[in-house]
Amino acid sequence: MTEVYSKLLSAAEAIRDRVGFTPRAALVLGSGLGAFADGMEISSAVDYGELPGFPKSTVEGHRGRFVFGCERGVPIVVMQGRVHYYEGYSMDEVVMPVRLLRLLGATRLVLTNAVGAINADYAAGDLMLIGDHILYGVPSPLIGANIDELGPRFPDMSEVYSKALLDNARDAARRLGITLREGVYLQTSGPNFETPAEIRAYRALGADVVGMSTACEAVAARHAGMEICGVSCVSNLAAGMSSAPLTHEEVQTAANAAAPRFRALISEIIAGL
Ligand code: HPA
Repeated sequence: MTEVYSKLLSAAEAIRDRVGFTPRAALVLGSGLGAFADGMEISSAVDYGELPGFPKSTVEGHRGRFVFGCERGVPIVVMQGRVHYYEGYSMDEVVMPVRLLRLLGATRLVLTNAVGAINADYAAGDLMLIGDHILYGVPSPLIGANIDELGPRFPDMSEVYSKALLDNARDAARRLGITLREGVYLQTSGPNFETPAEIRAYRALGADVVGMSTACEAVAARHAGMEICGVSCVSNLAAGMSSAPLTHEEVQTAANAAAPRFRALISEIIAGL
């Protein structure tokens, strides 16, 4: 058994003792959605810091705990705050919380994030369903000894984002009358925002939005056999597409402004899981 897997097993055992229910689905909260859990029927919460060997998020606005409870009657576990590669953690550590969600029993995963728009038709505040992704300049989280207990050495990635969950998300948006775009998410390492030349290059590669998280989590979750759905909130136009320089504060303010719509959509998606 690999060292990482044995750490995961101990963490899962410690949590299971305290929680006492099996979540049907898992939700990872990105910028702007941090308060999602406040509207849930919460049964318990566990800080990442309480779990031996677990990384802690160092980013402002990312809290760092698992919250267990019900949303629209569906038992879920929520990751409130994620860990990013640019914080200096290894990829193994970055995807540890997501792998733990699987060990806790969640088979379906909803990923959320804030992104910069590369597609010129997009505007700040738009919501986009992730149809596929590109990992760019970021190592695969599966490098190193394979965790055979989770999945195969060479996992297929031809359908990272589940067709059934994409349909569920489209239906949810239709029911709410929310316009939901669909596109390709490109993950960079961050933490710097991109240069205008990089954004032109990513557009040529086929990316619609850019962010600093999520795709590596999706790869680890898919490896572990989870069904995945991802929704991005456009917080800004990417570098070179507007005259203003980009700031973390702008990303947070725009993501917070879109939060009520974003929350409603995610809730409706979960109700259909
Ligand atoms: N670039 C990368 N990540 C981001 C951006 C961006 O413009 N906006 C929000 N996350």
